[in-house]
Amino acid sequence: MEAAMDIENANCKLRVSQCTDMEILPIERPIKVDREIDGLEKLVAELHRVFSHDHVNVQDVQKLMTGYTSDPKHWKKYAKFDRFRYTRNLVDAGNGAFNIMILCWAGGHASAIHDHADSHCFMKMLSGSLEEVRYDWPDNVQPEVLKKLKSTTKARRRCCSESEDKYLSSKMNALDMNCQNDSCHNFGGSIDNDHAENGNGNVEKENGSHCKNGEDRHEVYEAQNMVEIGRTRLEVNDVCYINDALGLHRMENPSHVDAAVSLHLYCPPFDSCRVFDASTGKPTQVSVTFTSKYGKRIKRMDEVIEVADSQQ
Ligand code: SIN
Repeated sequence: MEAAMDIENANCKLRVSQCTDMEILPIERPIKVDREIDGLEKLVAELHRVFSHDHVNVQDVQKLMTGYTSDPKHWKKYAKFDRFRYTRNLVDAGNGAFNIMILCWAGGHASAIHDHADSHCFMKMLSGSLEEVRYDWPDNVQPEVLKKLKSTTKARRRCCSESEDKYLSSKMNALDMNCQNDSCHNFGGSIDNDHAENGNGNVEKENGSHCKNGEDRHEVYEAQNMVEIGRTRLEVNDVCYINDALGLHRMENPSHVDAAVSLHLYCPPFDSCRVFDASTGKPTQVSVTFTSKYGKRIKRMDEVIEVADSQQ
């Protein structure tokens, strides 16, 4: 049994920490599928239907994604690979409530350890396999959702698996000792060191401060190794879910030969998140970008510059 966050009376258009009524509920495995969904387009149409409602239940989204059986005929027009890094290919922008994309991983490609910007993240394997590695939050960086779970009287936990219950309790206790600088609460580390992307991730560093109020923040950063809390191999048609309350993660294609393709849904959509240096825990705010949108490659800035240069 895996615990996940089910948010009642709440709208997935909201960030996880803004949801008013949080319970950590067990998800039955295997997820029971109400009906088969015949094709990616139908899945997207169903998602639009579900997200048009006020209340969007995490487990209903998981059921829909599980109900779809991957067939390359449905998604190959979106699958654009790159030799050097995994690619993000937008399939649908979900009327702003969610976005759904296909990620293409050549052999050995991996993402950096990252958070989910207080959004919900669903993922389904379409082809090949990926390893999901989960990490504990570094002690001096805390997500909004754990602060909320700690402070709200409405947050109730029940039926957690023992390990996730322990994880959340330890994190919530740690909040008393950390996160005391509210003016900068979205970024826990110093901002002037250039690091954190692992070289493979499809992310771009932003310049300057990442404090919400625009102030720079310089403080001594206590380096600590990131602690791995779980590892799951995902095979074709498997679905998984994560949000910031459940930790951080990275994905990697363990094969150096076979490609992998995965389908990711984020609600609400986000265009930046934090990546973490595995050996220090230091976070860096990064922008997330797309290689293609709706099946059409987007020209990269360096290609645009090359074309401009060749025309001079
Ligand atoms: C991942 O979950 O590793 C993929 C992150 C992304 O959306 O680029």
